[in-house]
Amino acid sequence: MTRPAIAVDGVSKSFRLPHEQHLSLKQRFLHPGRRTTYEEHEALRDVSVVVEEGEFFGIVGSNGSGKSTLLKIVGGIYRADSGTVRVHGALSPFIELGVGFNPDLNARDNIRINGTLLGLTRRELERKFDDIVGFAELERFVDQRLRNYSSGMQLRLAYSIAIQVPFDILLLDEVLAVGDQGFQQKCFGTFDRFRAEGKTVVFVSHDLASVERFCDRALLLANGAAGALDAAADVIAAYRGELPQDASSPGVAERRHEPQPAASASADALREPA
Ligand SMILES: Nc1ncnc2c1ncn2[C@@H]1O[C@H](COP(=O)(O)OP(=O)(O)O)[C@@H](O)[C@H]1O
Ligand SMILES: [Mg+2]
Repeated sequence: MTRPAIAVDGVSKSFRLPHEQHLSLKQRFLHPGRRTTYEEHEALRDVSVVVEEGEFFGIVGSNGSGKSTLLKIVGGIYRADSGTVRVHGALSPFIELGVGFNPDLNARDNIRINGTLLGLTRRELERKFDDIVGFAELERFVDQRLRNYSSGMQLRLAYSIAIQVPFDILLLDEVLAVGDQGFQQKCFGTFDRFRAEGKTVVFVSHDLASVERFCDRALLLANGAAGALDAAADVIAAYRGELPQDASSPGVAERRHEPQPAASASADALREPA
């Protein structure tokens, strides 16, 4: 009898979108405080989903549909406005490229900081350091500041850290987005291993072929609301059916437009209104 690894119940989350008013100088002088107005934007609307222990679970949907927001709420990075999230098991998050990295520090220090935040002790960190750098194939660059890393290098490092932390549940947000073919194959190898080990994996990706290949079930998000929730192949068929014809090839058209911010965790947190 399995219990759910993740239970999301009625979760909603809004952000404030700023709109700058273009006023004349005279208007600005007369109304000094009135330059920016805000609009509430509902990134997630009453989303409920249960991920079973040992399940490989996909989340798909177009840019801005709320996938990363949902993962950040499950990962405890954002708080939901309403609804509940319950997580059973140790969680390791790979959440959007660059989140959690300090671009002014080298890889060595970023590994230490990230590993510590994810719960590794100093001894564990020492023991795993070479594996982290080795899996990412960044031995030569370990003393270079992350500012000078390509997005693919940052992605390899972030994934490598995420999978070296002991976890029951792995959250993966666009881990295939900017890696090269070789790294993708390496990721697929680890996915097979996690499946065999009975880990729970939540996999957000525009690479629909990979979602179909690895995921048992999937959820389609559209404008912040839960759509199809079913066997991965059926959800992807539903999603492809909604896409314009020329964009329905496996994720390529969309992936090109996916923003790849090199933002640090603090910069990301700043985007969220208090
Ligand atoms: N920190 C934030 N501040 C303001 N708006 C945000 C923030 N994070 C996400 N959003 C908005 O929420 C919506 C969903 O974003 P996101 O979850 O990143 O979508 P996806 O990952 O599916 O592309 C978007 O409209 C986005 O602009
Ligand atoms: Mg996203």
